[in-house]
Amino acid sequence: MSSRPTASTAPATPPQSPHADGRILAIESSCDETAAAVVDLQGTILSNVVASQHDTHAPFGGVVPELAARRHIEAIDSIAQRALREAHCSWKDLSAVAVTQGPGLAGALLVGVNYAKACAYALKRPLLLVNHLEGHIASAWLAQPDFPRDAVVLVVSGGHTHLYRVHGPSKYTLLGRTVDDAAGEAFDKAAKLLGLGYPGGPAIDRLARGGRPDAIRFPRARRPARTANGGSSLNVSFSGLKTSLLYFLRDHPEWKMVDRLPDLTASFQEAIVDVLVDRAVGAVKQTGVSALAVVGGVSANSRLRTRMTEMATREGIRLSVPPVSFCTDNAAMVAAAGLATFRAGRQAPLDAESAADLPIAGLTPASTSHATRTRRPTATQTRS
Ligand code: KG4
Ligand code: ZN
Repeated sequence: MSSRPTASTAPATPPQSPHADGRILAIESSCDETAAAVVDLQGTILSNVVASQHDTHAPFGGVVPELAARRHIEAIDSIAQRALREAHCSWKDLSAVAVTQGPGLAGALLVGVNYAKACAYALKRPLLLVNHLEGHIASAWLAQPDFPRDAVVLVVSGGHTHLYRVHGPSKYTLLGRTVDDAAGEAFDKAAKLLGLGYPGGPAIDRLARGGRPDAIRFPRARRPARTANGGSSLNVSFSGLKTSLLYFLRDHPEWKMVDRLPDLTASFQEAIVDVLVDRAVGAVKQTGVSALAVVGGVSANSRLRTRMTEMATREGIRLSVPPVSFCTDNAAMVAAAGLATFRAGRQAPLDAESAADLPIAGLTPASTSHATRTRRPTATQTRS
């Protein structure tokens, strides 16, 4: 998309709903989940419906963008109607319609944004545009509304592994990020090498539960030294780990045997978890902020949740890891971020466009040399 209108310069006061106890319908279609949720104006999630396309993409080993867009078209209206039904609310109860504007797959985003625009136009209600990453970040407060507003947030998903300090509404500082693969990408690529199907993260998580995390010592990317031209000491890298697994399997093909997979996957997973826990502690120590949230699809990982909880208890850190249904892509998180946009009165114009490559507004980079990385559209994607 060439132009990227974000939320507009709109009125200073929130647009008024004719209904005192209004609702916001939120739509998410940035990748391979078609999702809709309804939230009330106090922030209570009234429904959260997700239709996954995993079965569609699994035979290809990654998301096929064209198929993703088609599946969204087929599903979006029934998913939105179901979200309304489950929230016991009708179209006329809505105060606004929120939607993920980007980043994500261009065709997939287009479906959600056009659907939301049509709803907003027909209902004469404000359109609210949400950055997908801000949605993931907002999920930190969904189950813990009293979680501190000044916090370190680790976003670990299929396209992102980013550490932010969040200090106030729409105020973010980038503390560190992956310099190559995202954590979810590392899980998905490893699963592909092992023939475990797509998405790889949940498959590895399941298998690893029966394995020994110390069976094989895979390399951990050490903390880089902070460089003069802005590299962050909190950056991570996962491409070496992926290559190391590739060579390990070439040299020890017997480890692909079914009975060895639990030890192999547990060891591989441990290498990712070790690095994420290390950088999260590093960020807390570097900022002096003792509240930490871990969000995004990879935060559904059972080992990561356990290790983060143990670390937080040990270090006296207040931790928020959302319930699993709020970790992987969902519209409840879009509703939460959309509600903040609504309260700020940032209504978008109806000619706003989706944006596959959408930076977070209000982001202060830790260094100028690292812009926020977005998912790269390729023919088939391992969720990047
Ligand atoms: O947040 P998300 O649903 O979509 C993106 O914004 O990318 O994250 C998807 C990623 C995939 O890479 C998937 O393999 C990973 O999250 N994932 C997991 C688990 N569940 C999903 N990774 C490890 N363990 C899991 N249990
Ligand atoms: Zn996501």
